[in-house]
Amino acid sequence: MPNKQLIEEAKAIKDAAYVPYSKFPVGAALRTKSGRIFTGCNIENAAYPVSCCAERVAIFKAISEGFTDFDEMAVAADTDRPVPPCGSCRQVMSEFFQKDMPITLTNLNGKTKIVTMQELLPFSFEPEDLK
Ligand code: THU
Repeated sequence: MPNKQLIEEAKAIKDAAYVPYSKFPVGAALRTKSGRIFTGCNIENAAYPVSCCAERVAIFKAISEGFTDFDEMAVAADTDRPVPPCGSCRQVMSEFFQKDMPITLTNLNGKTKIVTMQELLPFSFEPEDLK
């Protein structure tokens, strides 16, 4: 079962999203192995490509605070299906998440899909490939 608190935090942080252009708020909540939760919302910019997705904001907040070990993430948005993370976020996730780490994707009607990192981005480019 997905962690209910994590899903609720992902939904709640959507209210902080800065989305004047897309008007599409997204929320993410990331739990560290030590039990801390980092949240993130999408933050857009007048120069559109500079915008950052909710998932990456949550991950970068955690990394910048010295946390690198994670055990679960939840992502929420007002979509028909459970919100699928974009390709850039999948690549950033794969840098830090174990292959078997569960990521809970949800919409606002309780439609939820749990995927592992491996399912979200198979055959990903990894640090080991640089050796
Ligand atoms: N977005 C996210 O924050 N996460 C996702 O998983 C999908 C897309 C954001 C990017 C942009 O601010 C808005 O949603 C519309 O694409």
